[in-house]
Amino acid sequence: DWTMGAFRAEMVEKIRAQVGKGRVVCGLSGGVDSSVAAVLIHEAIGDQLTCIYVDHGLMRANESEQVVSTFRDRFNIHLVHRDASDLFLGQLSGVTDPEVKRKTIGRLFIEVFEEEQTKIGGADFLAQGTLYPDVIESVSATGGPSVTIKSHHNVGGLPEGMRMKLVEPLRDLFKDEVRALGRELGIPEEIVGRHPFPGPGLAIRIPGEVTREKADLLRKVDVIYLEEIRAAGLYDAIWQAFAVLLPVRTVGVMGDGRTYDQACALRAVTSTDGMTADVYPFTMEFLSRVANRIVNEVRGINRVTYDITSKPPGTIEWE
Ligand code: XMP
Repeated sequence: DWTMGAFRAEMVEKIRAQVGKGRVVCGLSGGVDSSVAAVLIHEAIGDQLTCIYVDHGLMRANESEQVVSTFRDRFNIHLVHRDASDLFLGQLSGVTDPEVKRKTIGRLFIEVFEEEQTKIGGADFLAQGTLYPDVIESVSATGGPSVTIKSHHNVGGLPEGMRMKLVEPLRDLFKDEVRALGRELGIPEEIVGRHPFPGPGLAIRIPGEVTREKADLLRKVDVIYLEEIRAAGLYDAIWQAFAVLLPVRTVGVMGDGRTYDQACALRAVTSTDGMTADVYPFTMEFLSRVANRIVNEVRGINRVTYDITSKPPGTIEWE
């Protein structure tokens, strides 16, 4: 793509001019935005960049392994992978309020990130994959007199005490442009085309207390759901699709026996920027197939529901 090629070259020059001989640290999340930012910055300044991937244990199945292998092996980017799942899950124990969950995770992210950054000897710049809609939404959602719906921890500036300058090469771009840039940079389709995933991860898809067992259960459901969506060729037509583990047990029947297991909800929406969303109109046949697989293959789940709420009045995530 000619436009993206030109943008890429221009951004590389801008990053070099901004950073000089300085050192840059970038928090990788596994998502499209931070991935594209990291690869672009790496192209500009090579080993002056170090990425830090804080693994909270609330990622989707196999995501952490994929992030690490892509960035280390394919792009030769210096990457610190910190498994902090015990810390995150420990601090989330007993926490049920959505905002407390978000804030706990946001605080720990910063703590662990700073720890790792100190270990590598500090940096002069902090790179972020902030997009244009993030800039707009964080202003409108947390700036003025309007209400804060959810506290997002990926935007909103530096935590106090972090005195680094920001490198934000994607600030003028929308999501589809970031994806085009990612393809231009040779980032695998699996990452570039991936549905958005919230910073707090599966924690906000598990209403009530989050535990490792619940996260494991939810990952199993999510894998089946996404597998079927891909098999049906629907993945790219959907903005986001995921499962939610409900804090409800219901009665079911399996073979000759009674079950008393958990229920889950499936969510799929179309959107252009995440600010408004419509429910994806799956066929009943598709939904039945997914529900049957989940109930038959995931021990502990005996009921599947489909969330048919648009945004507004619902939000995309459940918390
Ligand atoms: P909601 O649930 O507010 O989500 O309709 C809108 C979009 O934002 C994502 N989301 C987040 N992304 N950190 C993020 O990086 C967060 O804390 C967060 N919360 C929600 C959500 O997945 C959807 O794409």
